[in-house]
Amino acid sequence: MATVAWTGGGIRIIDQSRLPDEEVWLVLRSAEEVAEAITSMRVRGAPAIGAAAAMGLALAVSSGRDVDEVAAMLTATRPTAVNLEWAIHRVAGAARSGGATAAVAEAVAIADEDVRVNRALGQMGSSLLSDGSHVLTHCNAGALATVDYGTALGVVRAAVASGKRVRVWVGETRPVLQGARLTSWELRRDRIPVTVVADTAVGALVASGRVGCVVVGADRVAANGDVANKIGTYTLAVLATRHRVPFYVAAPTSTIDLATPDGRTIVIEERPADEVRRLRGATVTPDDVEVWNPAFDVTPAELVTAIVTEVGVVTAPFADGLRSAVSRASDARGAVVPLP
Ligand code: MRU
Repeated sequence: MATVAWTGGGIRIIDQSRLPDEEVWLVLRSAEEVAEAITSMRVRGAPAIGAAAAMGLALAVSSGRDVDEVAAMLTATRPTAVNLEWAIHRVAGAARSGGATAAVAEAVAIADEDVRVNRALGQMGSSLLSDGSHVLTHCNAGALATVDYGTALGVVRAAVASGKRVRVWVGETRPVLQGARLTSWELRRDRIPVTVVADTAVGALVASGRVGCVVVGADRVAANGDVANKIGTYTLAVLATRHRVPFYVAAPTSTIDLATPDGRTIVIEERPADEVRRLRGATVTPDDVEVWNPAFDVTPAELVTAIVTEVGVVTAPFADGLRSAVSRASDARGAVVPLP
């Protein structure tokens, strides 16, 4: 399942806002349609929005539009995931040096690389899971959140492919319900056992001893190893630490932001109040009640057991390991996918 694909004249995506009720595929035909799809979370997950924005920019450049203007418009759609600006920067650079043909080639390369990278990351992480593992994850860091295969769920998929039995637990992930709607949907398609719990049940679940480790994705990893990810991730990290359960972050090197020293300066997106006031169309609060709706939180590096990347598993102290992972990955990328 390629969640994001270049069709030549557009970008094909699965509309994640309609899952699991309906499986609807859309073809986006302009950068503005891509921006709308990212803002409304029809396409979501750090690597997936990076790939979609890359293709949206390539599409705009192909129709003669100004690179900087469109790049700025797409970058402004969601502020927290670094993959978005990383992918846009790559395509903008290609467009400036090689025009539309180079921009399209770069966008397609970003999507192709994502799948290879996730498979490599999955292999690296699978050794952390033993046969019979019970993994708690959060939100959706699976095929839907990437171009394919997934990061946290890529680790699970690789472990299952190597013959291990793995059970996944996932919190429903209010307010947008990525755990309940998306992670359960994609794991069931792969026949990987999955159990959904209400977010309020995770404390009792971890305390019950049924969770062997936590594996989550990331939207931005700061240079010191602080991790921004879906709101509620920090709660899981605190629980994991309290109950001495390993807390793993699965993040491709494209999610590591060496320019951000620590989590304090990561911009946390705040989303519309109605995402909290309403639940799949039904009102669950007084109409105009005040709401705070941050989409992400920051888990301090000291609560993270290891960060799994496509080039290796990084443990504390994270700064040197993350820097070396980024440099090894960019050397490998240079060798595999020559820039135009
Ligand atoms: O708001 P979302 O659904 O885009 O947030 C997604 C997450 O927080 C994921 O865990 C993260 O992007 C990693 S996806 C491989």
